[in-house]
Amino acid sequence: MSEPTYVKPMLKEDALKGKVIVVTGGGTGLGKSMSKYFLELGAGIVITSRKFDVLKKTADELAEQTKGNVLPVQCDVSDYAQVENMLSEAVEKFGKVDVLVNNAAGNFISPTERLSNRAFDIIINIVLKGTYNCTLAFGKHWIEKKQSASVLNIVTTYAWTGSAYVVPSACAKAGVLSLTRSLAVEWAKYRIRSNAIAPGPFPTKGAWDRLLPGDMKDKFDLAKKIPLKRVGEHQELANLAAYLVSDFSSYINGEVITIDGGEWLQGAGQFNLLEAVPKEMWDQIELMVRKAKSE
Ligand code: HXC
Ligand code: NAP
Repeated sequence: MSEPTYVKPMLKEDALKGKVIVVTGGGTGLGKSMSKYFLELGAGIVITSRKFDVLKKTADELAEQTKGNVLPVQCDVSDYAQVENMLSEAVEKFGKVDVLVNNAAGNFISPTERLSNRAFDIIINIVLKGTYNCTLAFGKHWIEKKQSASVLNIVTTYAWTGSAYVVPSACAKAGVLSLTRSLAVEWAKYRIRSNAIAPGPFPTKGAWDRLLPGDMKDKFDLAKKIPLKRVGEHQELANLAAYLVSDFSSYINGEVITIDGGEWLQGAGQFNLLEAVPKEMWDQIELMVRKAKSE
């Protein structure tokens, strides 16, 4: 059987040629997949996170696979001085930066009352503080250089629905979404666009080990609760991200694009549970409803 279209690269060759893109958390998971595709499309890439050995291994692998230019830089995004240093290293290597992808995150499941204040802090510091640290440092730089640029933030759908058991992450992602929309307006005058992607479940080791530990992966088959009955493929997220950081999306600003197979709306619609009603019961149900009208 031939590969489905959605696992194929979407943009035309060289769509990101000449662009320099910084991807936080680019050594693993979705950050790595996005970085790989950006390289294939001709961009220069900086991947950054706390673990240099992981970054270096990914950088070597991606450079080998794509023949592209990729710089690994160690940086804890929750520390503003390290972020400024990471920006300097990127500019020193490539001469400029055009795009910031705020993808780094931390998360784990827990009843909120079991969390210490430090546990809450650690997630907020990575996700919200890390995102505003990078956005502020890069924004100041771009404004001073009078350079057009764009920011892409990776959030998730519970940024607007909220979610039990991942409350620090939900609070932080909501803040990131608000930052996205606020700066889309405020920094448009500097020709800096801000957009976000809200992914549903895309299998990665980082997310799965912390959100579905042990045999929870088998007990909670996530694909079952998604209207399209499958989880996401990394390439389809990379396709969307590449479009949003490319000049083809120049008029898209302040948008959050959900890519979740319909997952969050499935939980939202009050009558979506009627999916469980067997087809053959609908004749009987219709009769009951019509009878009620005539009474
Ligand atoms: C309760 C916990 C805990 C748990 C840690 N803590 N794990 N509390 N339940 N399961 C507490 C610790 O006791 C400590 O508080 C505080 O949190 C900080 O702990 P540290 O030891 O400093 O942190 P550590 O456990 O080493 O690291 C936590 C982390 C780590 C930083 C979040 O897992 C990490 O590096 N994650 C990065 C990658 C990641 O999380 N990726 C998943 C992204 S997925 P005390 O008070 O004891 O000192 C994602 C998906 C969203 O975002 C949507 C999916 C659909
Ligand atoms: P992942 O592989 O665990 O990625 C998280 C990355 O963040 C890691 O590379 C980690 O590297 C980095 N990081 C963590 N703390 C950092 C810090 N303080 N400074 C710099 N980097 C830090 O998980 P993923 O699934 O690919 O997640 C990527 C993004 O997608 C996240 O924003 C996540 O919220 C979002 N998302 C994922 C899913 C999903 O189903 N996978 C769904 C919705 C949203 P180090 O440990 O080396 O620092």
